[in-house]
This record gives sequence, structure tokens and C-alpha cells, in this order.
Amino acid sequence: MSDTFYLTTPLYYVNGVPHVGHTYTSVIADAIARYKRMCGLQVCSLTGTDEHGLKIERAAREQGLSPQKFTNTYAATFRQAWKKLGLSFDEFIRTTEKRHGEAVAEIFERIKENNFIYLGEYSGNYCVNCEAYAPQGVTDCPDCGRPTESMSEESYFFKLSAFEEKLLNFYDSNPDFVVPATRMNEIVSFVKGGLKDLSISRTSFSWGIPIPGDEKHIFYVWFDALTGYLAGIGFASPSENFEQYWPADVQLIGKDILRFHAVYWPAFLIAAGLEPPRHILVNGWWTVEGEKMSKSRGNTITTDELIDLVPPDYVKYFLLREIPVGADGNFSYKLLLKRVNSDLANDLGNLSNRILTMIESYCKGQIPESGEPETRDEELKQFSSETIDLFRKNFDSLQINKAIENVWELISMVNKYIVANEPWAMGDDPAKEDRLGTVLYYSAETLRIIAILMAPIIPTGTASILKQLGVSKPIEDHRIPQLAWGELEKGSPIGKIQAIYPRLDQDELLSRVEKGRQQKESPAPPAQETDVTAQKKEIGIEDFAKVEMRVGKIVSAERVPKSDKLLKVQVDIGSEVRQVVAGIGEEYAPEELPGRLVAVVTNLKPVKLMGVESNGMLVAAGNKGKPVLVAFNEPVRLGARLQ
Ligand code: MSP
Repeated sequence: MSDTFYLTTPLYYVNGVPHVGHTYTSVIADAIARYKRMCGLQVCSLTGTDEHGLKIERAAREQGLSPQKFTNTYAATFRQAWKKLGLSFDEFIRTTEKRHGEAVAEIFERIKENNFIYLGEYSGNYCVNCEAYAPQGVTDCPDCGRPTESMSEESYFFKLSAFEEKLLNFYDSNPDFVVPATRMNEIVSFVKGGLKDLSISRTSFSWGIPIPGDEKHIFYVWFDALTGYLAGIGFASPSENFEQYWPADVQLIGKDILRFHAVYWPAFLIAAGLEPPRHILVNGWWTVEGEKMSKSRGNTITTDELIDLVPPDYVKYFLLREIPVGADGNFSYKLLLKRVNSDLANDLGNLSNRILTMIESYCKGQIPESGEPETRDEELKQFSSETIDLFRKNFDSLQINKAIENVWELISMVNKYIVANEPWAMGDDPAKEDRLGTVLYYSAETLRIIAILMAPIIPTGTASILKQLGVSKPIEDHRIPQLAWGELEKGSPIGKIQAIYPRLDQDELLSRVEKGRQQKESPAPPAQETDVTAQKKEIGIEDFAKVEMRVGKIVSAERVPKSDKLLKVQVDIGSEVRQVVAGIGEEYAPEELPGRLVAVVTNLKPVKLMGVESNGMLVAAGNKGKPVLVAFNEPVRLGARLQ
């Protein structure tokens, strides 16, 4: 087996902010990446953003921004969301990067050289939402149901029709290319139904990568985006990295983008003389309270909202435990609360606390010596080792929810073991010291195994358990295939006991959810109320320390339509370019702002002002009610924090 492992998420469209559906795919990817690292593999886990195409061009225009500025802002929201969730991606590819453009040109040249590209004419009905032509004669998009637009244009074609046989042979020799199997069957029947050549260029709009040598054409967004999986590991500039990682081991996708990944993608790759990925893992879709998420229903659970309300481990645990990877799921805060309070707070949190507290009270805070084991001790040890095997078997076949269930059976077993042995009744009896030591050693050792197995899924709490058990090696440095009984050192001190996984309070959480929704629905506050002076009245000194202000440089500014006061400002704060709506339009002309250094409040929840998203606030002093921007006279680093 090779010692590298490459996995990818889809590259997310940047016409909106990340939500629970995107979070799901990214969370699965993170758990697999962590697991494979803990199996000793050298992992590259890639995510990124898909930034070209008509859909993005139009969305940018609606907000009065150039597509590049628009995508800069949204790409940053994805990067930040994954960072806040503590996801461990190694690579983030944006399809507007130079290395990506070069990779697209390179794969095109290879396919062309192999005679699978020709110039022709395309006319048909195009769905802008899915960035795909509908079959001949179909007016509503077969994927999303929206009306299509009729288009006709000169186009470069990819000879997909030449790949019917090749693809069927490939599926035949790789029956688990698409997982789960039902999705594989869907694809096989689709290809058996016949394949038509695929138009891979557009001339009717310009937001894309130009075709080398014929620049009035830009690449079809799917041809462009799929290549991101190659670009992110150095395809354009031949590198060892690419040789090491391609073909990808697992490419994660949602069920809606199966055809692109299981038909077009392997065909493009074979045509370019490259190997297709080993597996395409297809996840189902999340509904919210039983309904499809959509802007018009206003029921989208954004990743930001979710992380504000629920700690990352709880989010990850719920998403991965609740449903098998291929199935659809229903998201509701009530279900989430029920699941995490029962499993994380009651089962795992209490178990950890119970074992550590007894070691603290009865064994002077040191891992006890274990005496001669009895049958029930041996049974627990045996069950732990069987759990490791089952967990690995299930995780290796990407049945993550089953792997978690295996660990929970062990948790239940050790809980029963503790109850049956009643260590608390032996605490004061010197004759039972040996037995007490054995029971607590066996319990603590089982807890160590539980923490290590669960580390890929809930890395924060499990790292804390291990630290509390006095294990100094960082949790991610443990190797799951080598995980064996008996590594806790007798006599070593345990760490400071801390509660992990506190219960989430249902009333409090639901009322915060409700409050958030009302804020979303209520009209945007007038601009002057968002200046810092107005907010300062309401906050205490300790709250003030929570306000994060950073140095930024204004990149561009323009008026918000129909408002005298509001300016839409793009401001570079070092790590990213933020869009901020500022109520300074009567005092400052947009043209005089670019290049100015300003102070920006950077840790505010995004709000919409007159329909325009504002992601922060410019700091201004009130001068007779008129704002005056805070400025810097000395050179100062962008992003530096004001203190
Ligand atoms: N840009 C394309 C992918 C190009 S890959 C080279 C795209 N982007 S997307 O942002 O629309 O979707 C990204 C992923 O999020 C897809 O896998 C999609 O299935 C997933 N989800 C979007 N909404 C979802 C749910 N409600 N539930 C689960 N996953 C969902 O498609």
C-alpha cells in the first residue's frame, strides 16, 4: 500500500456563504484526513473554491462588484469557516489562482494532443444555476427544476462519446469506484444510455479561463473547476508532489454532482493520459427541519451561525454520528442537542470525569498499579481490542457512523464494568487496594483507547482526555494500527481534571437560535447606529477587550445604491479583503478613500445594511454628529491589532 493519501472536497461555489451542507462534506473530509494521518500515512487533504462561471459573474454584478473582488470576499468566508471549525486542510485551491489557470491550460493541451477536442457549434437550453446544458428539448433543468435559457454559440467540444466503452470497462474493473454501490449503479446505467460529446467552452460571457490560442472562448466552468483537484497538488509545474499524490484516494462529493465526477472527470483524465481517482464518495443531502435549504425559505443554517451556537466537536460529532455517509439527513437543533447531550455529555464526558476523579481521590492522582486480572477485566481488555479492529474495518470502508457506534459500545461496556465492580466501595479498604488499582487501571486504559479512536472525529475533547490521563504525546501522534493495551504508565501522575463536553442547555440554545433568526428577518439598522460610539454606551470594560480592531487599507469604495450615507468599502486587513458598509457617505467621497489606512472592527457578526453584507466596521470619531475616520500617520503593518 502506498504511504500517501490524497483526498478532496468539492470546490465550493462562492455565490453565498458556507452552510451546513458544505460543512458536512468538509467535516467528513477532516475526519478521514485525521484518521489516515493517525494510520501513519502522509496525507494531503484539499478543499477550495470554484470561482468562475456565469452564476458567479451575475451574483457579483448584483452586488455591484467586479467578479474578482466578489470572489475574494466569499472565498475568505469559506477559508475562515473551516478555520473556526478547526478543520485540518493541507491545501486550499481557488480557481482564480495562477497555478490553477496553468493547470487547466495544461490538461486541455494534453487532451487536444490526444485528439479528443474539436471546434463546433452548440445550441441548447442552459441552466445557469447548475452551469450545465439541459438535454435537447428540455426546458426546465433536470437537476434543479429551474427554467433554462436558450443559448447558441461556437464551442470547443470534448469527444465524450468516445469514452462509453472505456468508462464501462473502467467501472467494471473498479466496482467500488463510486461509493455507495447504489450510486455506482446509477452511473453505469447513465453511461449505458449513451454519451454525447460535451461542449467545454463558452463565448457568451467572459468570467473564466481563456482557451489557449483562442481567447474569445473561456473554459466551461466544470472543465475548469474539476482541474482544481490536480492544480492544488502541483500539476502545472511538474513536481514530486503531484507524482506522490495523484491519483486521489478519495474524492468527496454530494449526490447532486455525481455525473460530473463519475463520468466527465474520469473521461477527461483518461483522455489526458492520467489515472482516474480511486474512489468517489457520495454523501447525501441535509434538509433543515425536513425542508430543503434555500434562500427563499430563509431556512439556511450557515456555518457561522452553527459555530457561534455549538462548539466544533459537537457539530462534527452530530453530523458524522447521525447518518451514514451516503444517506440524507435532517438537521434540527433539537436533534443535535439530544444527540450530543446524550452521547458526548452523558456518556463520554461523564465516563472520563468519573474515572479521573476516582484516580485522583483513591490513587493520589497517579495511574494505579493493576493486580492479577480477573475474567471480567480480561473481558474488557478483549472487548477493547475487538473494538479497535471493528473501528478500523468500518472507518477503512468509510462507514464512519458505524465506527463511532463501535466506540460507543465500548463506552457502554466500561460503564457497566465500573458499576459492576463498584470501585467507590473499595476506596477506604486497604484489603481491596489491589483490586481497586486493577479496576481503575483497566478503566483508564480503556478510556485512553476510546480517546485515541475518537480523535479523528472529535479532536479537541479527546486531546483533553489524553492530557488529563497524563499522556504527554500529542493525540495526533498516536498510531491507530499500533494501538494496543497497556501503555498507561503505572505511577505516572494524571493531569488537571477538567470537565469536557458540558451539556448544552436546550432553552438557552433555542432562544439564541430564535434571536438570531429575528435579527436576520428584521430590517437592517440605520447606518449611524452602527458606529462605535453608539455601541460603546452598552458595553462594559471587559467587553471592550473582546472587540478586535485591526489596521486595514481601503482598496476601493463605492456608494450603496439609494443611500446618501452608506459606502460599500473593500478593505485589506492583511489576511484578507473585507467588505464593510460604512455610514460615512455624506462626509467622504468614495474616490478619496482608496489607499487610506483605517481601523477596522473585525470580529463582528456579518450584517446586511440595505441589502449589502457588511463584515466589520470602520472606526470613526463623532465630530458634531459627523463621523471622522481614525487614521494612522506612521507606517503600520496591515492586520496589526489595535491595543
Ligand atoms: N462548485 C461545484 C463543485 C465543483 S467541484 C470541482 C458545487 N459547489 S456547491 O457549493 O454548490 O456544492 C458543494 C458541495 O456541497 C456539493 O458536494 C453539494 O452536494 C454540497 N451540498 C450543498 N448543499 C447541501 C446540502 N443541503 N446537504 C449536503 N450537501 C450539500 O457543486
